[in-house]
Amino acid sequence: MGIQHTDLAGKVVVITGGSRGIGAETARAFARQGAIVAVLGRDEAALTAVAAELHELGEPRNPGGPGVSKALGLVADCTDAAALAAAVERIEGELGPVDVLAAFAGGNGYPVPTVRETEEHWRSVVDGNLHATFLTVHAFLPGLLERGTGSIVTMASTAGRLPGGSSAAYAAAKAGVLMFTRHLALEVAGRGVRVNAIAPGAVRTEITAERMPPEVQAAVAAAHPLGRLGEPEDIAEATLFLASDASSWITGQTLDVSGGRVIV
Ligand SMILES: NC(=O)c1ccc[n+]([C@@H]2O[C@H](COP(=O)([O-])OP(=O)(O)OC[C@H]3O[C@@H](n4cnc5c(N)ncnc54)[C@H](OP(=O)(O)O)[C@@H]3O)[C@@H](O)[C@H]2O)c1
Repeated sequence: MGIQHTDLAGKVVVITGGSRGIGAETARAFARQGAIVAVLGRDEAALTAVAAELHELGEPRNPGGPGVSKALGLVADCTDAAALAAAVERIEGELGPVDVLAAFAGGNGYPVPTVRETEEHWRSVVDGNLHATFLTVHAFLPGLLERGTGSIVTMASTAGRLPGGSSAAYAAAKAGVLMFTRHLALEVAGRGVRVNAIAPGAVRTEITAERMPPEVQAAVAAAHPLGRLGEPEDIAEATLFLASDASSWITGQTLDVSGGRVIV
């Protein structure tokens, strides 16, 4: 386990894309800090399994303590404003006001030559990454502003920082997430809410490990100056930092967690 952020204990944390991969690992990391975590996604069975795990992880830090082991798995498609509104209502009702929002749902960045791109695929990638991030933040923002405190962490990608390696749609959507993050950070800085983005390089999730043959994994790892793929834990630790008081004077920033792939 990494650093302890004692201020995160008892905080209410929402993680979209929490049913697997980076989001699920980030949820585990928050639960280990004693946070109360809600995970959102579309796969009910996976969300139920992650939520059960979060209950277990929450217990040892404060057995029987108020709220500490609480966790919730909620089905909500982040491209659907009505589903997000229902999730906000349930989370605020069952867990209390939200302190941290990690808007991580997204993906589908596989490379497609633009000449072969279809309108339907382009729209679904932009919808699933940029619009989903906007809709998620838009749903939770009123509660954060009302309390005048909180941290939002959005999910970009190296693809939104450097061209190459993904589809243009994904690159454009993730670059859009970054500018949305900066814009919002400035808008709400005076109201106690911080907004930052994480831009991971290639991360070895269950799905990437499954789909990338070992020789491709080795080539991708070699393209990252630190010589390895990222692990979901690398992103989880960066998220804890951006969510916690350790980063209380940081807003509107992009944290490249990419083994040196992006150096600016
Ligand atoms: N892995 C990498 O190398 C990498 C690198 C840079 C950035 N990222 C970004 O990191 C985030 C997580 O990626 P990952 O690799 O962990 O992906 P993953 O294993 O495929 O997981 C994606 C997660 O997002 C959820 N999701 C996707 N679309 C959704 C929607 N419309 N509504 C609700 N939930 C939705 C999925 O939920 P369900 O399955 O339950 O629907 C799942 O929990 C994505 O935004 C991705 O673009 C990943």
